[in-house]
Amino acid sequence: MESLKLEKIGYSYGENKILNEIDYEFFSGELVGILGANGCGKSTLLKVIMGFLEKSRGKIYLSNMDVEELSRKEFAKKVAFIAQKSSQNLNFTVLEVLKLGRVPHIKNSFKGLDIEDEKVVNEIVEKLNLQRYLNRDIKSLSGGEFQRVLLGRTFIQNSQVILLDEPTSALDINYSLEFLELLKERVKTKKVVGIIVIHDINLASLFCDKILFIKDGKVAISGTPKEVIKKEWLKKVYNFTPQILNLDGDTYVLPKRGEV
Ligand SMILES: Nc1ncnc2c1ncn2[C@@H]1O[C@H](COP(=O)(O)OP(=O)(O)O)[C@@H](O)[C@H]1O
Ligand SMILES: [Mg+2]
Repeated sequence: MESLKLEKIGYSYGENKILNEIDYEFFSGELVGILGANGCGKSTLLKVIMGFLEKSRGKIYLSNMDVEELSRKEFAKKVAFIAQKSSQNLNFTVLEVLKLGRVPHIKNSFKGLDIEDEKVVNEIVEKLNLQRYLNRDIKSLSGGEFQRVLLGRTFIQNSQVILLDEPTSALDINYSLEFLELLKERVKTKKVVGIIVIHDINLASLFCDKILFIKDGKVAISGTPKEVIKKEWLKKVYNFTPQILNLDGDTYVLPKRGEV
């Protein structure tokens, strides 16, 4: 089984300590939601995992191998990322953006994508119903369409780990559900390590196998949605006492203040 293990991860912006000591192991076939108040360091953590920010301490292991021992190219084959502020302001077509997912796999850099690479691209285009967008300018897509293309790019990358930073925050409910259903299916069928930063507690509860709440640079609590979506934890993490609704054995959080 593949896993992504974080051991005592720390990160500071100058004097400002954001991540103190993050310990967690993510497993293949599981979608894990990272939740926490605005500014608690969720995006910072994903950037540290990606190696965009250099951690001040700790270790990251991909299936027991220290990621520092992997070349950039090897790492790029194994880990895909959708950033919180992915720029749509690029002079690329949809097809060109999708093909970027194959870049780490290219065997001959003079020839570019080979028949096998093209096959992977076509499969995902069909799966995500992107045929009619292929020649469109990426700038011309709606927010929901753009996120679907980015998700397609990560599938085309065929990585063992997918990190997503608030991919559904700007999407309507139908696009959000569709996005999460596609992601969840991929995580289950391809045994991917899925890690998603997501604010909507109810969507997280419906789609994530595990949830981890970050507070004060640490994992405040982690577990199944049922185990962690509780008044006491929401109060600790968000400083807000919610009204909780139990329906058909599932727990939902109403966007309404409850009794303290
Ligand atoms: N480049 C930066 N320089 C200084 N501080 C930063 C920088 N990027 C983020 N921060 C600060 O670090 C904290 C964590 O940010 P971030 O990881 O983006 O939070 P989250 O994604 O959980 O909302 C915030 O207080 C933010 O203002
Ligand atoms: Mg963020």
